Amino acid sequence: MQQPIARRAVHTIVREHQQLSAVINGMSRFVESLSEGAHAPPAIVMRAMLYYIREYPEQVHHPKEDKYLFTRLRSRTDELDDVIEELEAQHVEGEARVRDLERALTRYELIGQSAAPALRTMVAQYAAFYSRHRLLEEEVILPAALRLLSAADWMELDEAFGDNRDPFNGSELQGELDRLYALIVSAVPAS
Ligand SMILES: [Fe+2]
Ligand SMILES: [Fe+2]
Repeated sequence: MQQPIARRAVHTIVREHQQLSAVINGMSRFVESLSEGAHAPPAIVMRAMLYYIREYPEQVHHPKEDKYLFTRLRSRTDELDDVIEELEAQHVEGEARVRDLERALTRYELIGQSAAPALRTMVAQYAAFYSRHRLLEEEVILPAALRLLSAADWMELDEAFGDNRDPFNGSELQGELDRLYALIVSAVPAS
C-alpha cells in the first residue's frame, strides 16, 4: 500500500499526464477536422494547445521529473539508469517535436490544405511518442519509486510536485494555465 505522503506527488504526476494526454487528443481531433473546409476550427486552437505544452509540461512537469523524481531514484538504485536516461532524452526530444509541430502549423496557416497531411502525420507521431513516454513513467518509474524511495524522498517530491507553479509568477500562472486548459478542452471539436 502507498504511504499517504507519497500520494500527493504521484497523483499530481498522473493528473498532469492525463491533462497532457487530453490536450494531445484535442490536437488529434483538430487535425482530423482540417478536411472540413469552412467548418475546420481556426489554427489558434492548436496554437493554444502547443502553447500549453510549452508552458506547463515542458517548463514545469518534465524539469521536475528530471530534477527530483529521477535524481532521487538514481540515488537509490542503478537498475533504472537506462530507463531514466531514455526518459530524459525523450524530454529533450519532446521539445524538438513541439517546435516542429509549431513550424508545421505555421506552414498550414500559410499555404493551407496541402500542408495538412504533414501536420496530421506529425501529430500522430507525437501522440504515439508521448503515449510511450507516459507508459514508461507510470508502469516502470512510479511503481519503482513507490517501492524504493524513503519517507524523506517522498517529502521532497511531495513538496516539489504538490506546488507546481511558475517560480517567477506564483499562483497566477497556475490559474492562467488552468483557464487555458479549460479553454482548450472546450474548444476541441467533438469527435
Ligand atoms: Fe511525466
Ligand atoms: Fe516525463
